[in-house]
Amino acid sequence: MRTKVAIIGAGPAGLLLGQLLHAYGIDNVILERQTPDYVLGRIRAGLLEEGTVALLDEVGGGARAHREGLVHGGIELAFAGSRHRIDLKAATGKTVMIYGQTEVTLDLMNARHAAGLTTIYEAADVKPHDFDTDHPRVTYVKDGTSHEIACDFIAGCDGFHGVSRASVKPSAIETFERVYPFGWLGILSETPPVSHELIYSNHARGFALCTMRSTHRSRHYVQCSLDDHIDQWPDDRFWDELKLRLDQETADKLVTGPSIEKSIAPLRSFVAEPMRFGRMFLAGDAAHIVPPTGAKGLNLAASDAYYLAVALREYYIEKSAAGIDHYSEKALARVWKAVRFSWWMTSILHKFPDTGTIGARIQLAELDYLVASKAASASLAENYVGLPY
Ligand code: APR
Ligand code: PHB
Repeated sequence: MRTKVAIIGAGPAGLLLGQLLHAYGIDNVILERQTPDYVLGRIRAGLLEEGTVALLDEVGGGARAHREGLVHGGIELAFAGSRHRIDLKAATGKTVMIYGQTEVTLDLMNARHAAGLTTIYEAADVKPHDFDTDHPRVTYVKDGTSHEIACDFIAGCDGFHGVSRASVKPSAIETFERVYPFGWLGILSETPPVSHELIYSNHARGFALCTMRSTHRSRHYVQCSLDDHIDQWPDDRFWDELKLRLDQETADKLVTGPSIEKSIAPLRSFVAEPMRFGRMFLAGDAAHIVPPTGAKGLNLAASDAYYLAVALREYYIEKSAAGIDHYSEKALARVWKAVRFSWWMTSILHKFPDTGTIGARIQLAELDYLVASKAASASLAENYVGLPY
């Protein structure tokens, strides 16, 4: 088989890139290790920047998000027993949309299917080859048979544990990493959200977040220990702990119910530089990870896909390599700002085991300043709604 761009990974980065390339007349094939159901079973954050929604629209995959997504013009920060609203819309003119990553993935899968594009699911042992030459290839095994795809470019959209970044020789790549000393325990429940906007809470017992998937489905998180196991967190313990970390009014209003999903996720900041190795590019979680505070992961995957698709369009249509030559630099400039923002939101909202009582007091001073200062609120808002592409 031959294609222009072989994309490894059918998560949001790979699927959006595939649709953008298709819109620009560039044929592509996606290789995915898992089944579609497995990919759709992964529960992740669900907050889209306007730029991400615009990209979904551009590829004809945004209609359901506009119908079902919840548009939010603000968020609330809770600390020292009260809640304070940050008016995102007033500060930036922009909003964010609550729409689950699972739904984004499903809409992109359907758009890809409708366009008749090839996705090879359950592709085992996928390997990128010869990307430092003009004739890259990707090999894989499907149903016990080996196959090869010859291509012009390889897009590594295969997430943090993927094969693409791992195939680069260590001397060609520099990585930056911080692993946080806690995790997020999240539950999904068929209960109405406690508030119509998200509540991020800094509490002496640890961070908590009240978010949602729809008007009848809630998603809640509490900061937990990295040693914790979900078996130690029956639903009742979760709800009790969450209530303790919220202001009284919110705790009293909270509607609890059985969890339909429960998981613990570690928190990590990670960046690999560069994002291009000859004829292979990295995009999304394959190149960088942010902690979920601020929900930038999916939105960064979208901006990478956009930069890469535009660079490849320039290569094929305008016969210029300038775009692909600048892809890494351009993508990383936006990535680092989101890495900085996610690290900062994480650092002001969580309980850190090593900073002691002075660290906790400084966090409260920063939060107090943040909600009282127009300039500081605007800075948070500008980053939260997403920096321009
Ligand atoms: N071969 C083929 N496919 C692979 C391989 C491999 N060796 N390794 C991983 N994959 C697939 C995974 O099964 C997954 O479907 O690549 C896909 C990567 O998807 P994601 O992990 O969702 O990453 P990405 O598309 O970059 O999306 C970023 O996901 O982790 C969240 O917070 C993050 O929301 C952000 C988004
Ligand atoms: C989510 O809805 O899962 C979510 C929202 C905002 C965040 C993190 C997660 O900052």
